[in-house]
Amino acid sequence: MIMRLSDDMKHILPACLFAVFSISGAFFTDAAAAERKGITVMHMSNEQNIIDVCPEHRYLLLPVQDSAPEGRIQLVADNNVCGAGINIRLAREKVDYFVPLDLSAYRGRNLRLDVQAVPASSLCWSEISCSDTFSAELSPKPLYHHIPAHGWMNDPNGMFWKDGKYHLFYQSNPYGCTWGNMHWGHSVSEDLIHWEDAGPALAPDAWGYIFSGSAVVDKENTAGFGENAVVAFYTSSKPTRWSDCQTQSIAYSTDGGRTFTKYGSNPVLVSDIQDFRDPKVFWYAPGKHWVMILAAGQQMRIYSSRDLKSWTYESSFGQTQGAHGGVWECPDLVELEVEGTGEKKWVLLCNINPGGPFGGSATQYFTGSFDGKKFVNEAPTLTKWMDWGKDNYATVTWSNVPDGRCIAIGWMSNWQYQVDLPQKGYRGTNTIARELSLYERDGVTCLKSAPVREMLSVRGDVLEKKPFRVSGMECAMDWCLPDGGAFEVEMKIRNNGAEKIGIVFGNKAGEQVKMYYDVSHGQFVADRTESGETGFNANFAAVTAAPAETDGEMTLRLFFDRTSVEIFGNGGEFVMTNLIFPTEPYSGLGFYSDRGSFTVTSLDIYPIVP
Ligand code: FRU
Repeated sequence: MIMRLSDDMKHILPACLFAVFSISGAFFTDAAAAERKGITVMHMSNEQNIIDVCPEHRYLLLPVQDSAPEGRIQLVADNNVCGAGINIRLAREKVDYFVPLDLSAYRGRNLRLDVQAVPASSLCWSEISCSDTFSAELSPKPLYHHIPAHGWMNDPNGMFWKDGKYHLFYQSNPYGCTWGNMHWGHSVSEDLIHWEDAGPALAPDAWGYIFSGSAVVDKENTAGFGENAVVAFYTSSKPTRWSDCQTQSIAYSTDGGRTFTKYGSNPVLVSDIQDFRDPKVFWYAPGKHWVMILAAGQQMRIYSSRDLKSWTYESSFGQTQGAHGGVWECPDLVELEVEGTGEKKWVLLCNINPGGPFGGSATQYFTGSFDGKKFVNEAPTLTKWMDWGKDNYATVTWSNVPDGRCIAIGWMSNWQYQVDLPQKGYRGTNTIARELSLYERDGVTCLKSAPVREMLSVRGDVLEKKPFRVSGMECAMDWCLPDGGAFEVEMKIRNNGAEKIGIVFGNKAGEQVKMYYDVSHGQFVADRTESGETGFNANFAAVTAAPAETDGEMTLRLFFDRTSVEIFGNGGEFVMTNLIFPTEPYSGLGFYSDRGSFTVTSLDIYPIVP
């Protein structure tokens, strides 16, 4: 028998009672602790529980243990189910961190939480509390990279610029540091470096989780949501008892992207294939229509629309082109100028998981032409990768950037091990924002990704080293790096016949990232096998290599931020993004050469002061 507590009964619960006890079949754990916090918990058979919350406080703080099995919370206000429910790993034996459940929408109502699949003996019952504030403890925390407010993050989503602000949404689980409950989290920045949390933007609904997508500014009000409304496109992903179902939905904002309203007639596009997701929408000016490109299994599909609501299938791309080691995801299609030619080409970004060059997820791209309906790859036999590290995925670009720059950002991680990363209170980091352009190398059009120019504005006082020559395998460390692990090193190197140009960043604990330019193979290599903590997943300790042509001269910009290193060679012609988890920040830098020598003709070290 299930018994509910009346308000009167709650007051007669003995305040000193800490043990589990039972009244007519319902169990109350740690009643004193809970009562003190304005919460009553009722336990029933089969690991079912009811939490009676007093929504006078803004948040219910829920204790999470990442290794606990998932339970489920359904909010019930005045006897009616509210929202799509939450899957959550409520703490059983230990609390890893707390997550906030925002109760503000339920003020003045009778709110109960129907909690399933959580045993009465779990630690969470005595740890749950109410609060008007929440501040997440996140560690180790990068200093100048975008991370979620708390909880899990994967792909960047829905990025647009408007009214002086860059908006960045992201795949977010606000209720844990593992994947699930996919929302769009939201952050806002004026300079692509300092990000402010803007709270969850879109929450799961009857059509499912809110998967990845994009956003546009509808200047001409083609959709009827208002002039300059921001219209967001996302995949509604619904795991049903029979199979997953993915459809495309829209939401709009008439306050510049601060809040979104879901369109009442979602979904707007359905299909008969299962993997059908991640719509990227843009305006195709010559045809005066909108284009949607989205991933469909291991192909991309292209649709067109005049009103953003009804979509016509136009073409598919990629069945026999590029890498196919995994499913295609998160596409983008942008037009860029080929440097120094005045010619423009279209670039199709295609994220793939698994099947990346070093295992797991990665971003490939194609260059060619697009007529508003069909993309034609100009080099159908080539596979081109955007980044040669292990940790650059789901790369997509901002829409509506005022100065015509094409700015991209990637999720700085890999599906192979994201869930095991030694991060606490959050999981997931984005790369620094990168400006994309095209260049020609030996008749092949290639993509260049350079750090956005805003990164220059956070350089602190430079430590400028005099030019020096490096000869020999011995690598003496110069402990000259700025404190705190957040810095940029810019250097120019001229080769004088060395076979290997070696650069090492490390700490006094002996942890290091080794990099070298391997002249005979024309490759830039980065080795993080001894970089710090690597044992949390067998796929993490890795050596990655980028094809790099240098003509005897090489410029490097290396960005370190406690848990990552991003390498930009020759202005972004080769790029490598890798996570690292040193137990203390790298403070030293050393060089070595194999066979001949090389000269470091300039070496500038900047603390990054965000
Ligand atoms: C890519 C991806 C997308 C999907 C999202 C779900 O990392 O699998 O295809 O929309 O993550 O979180």
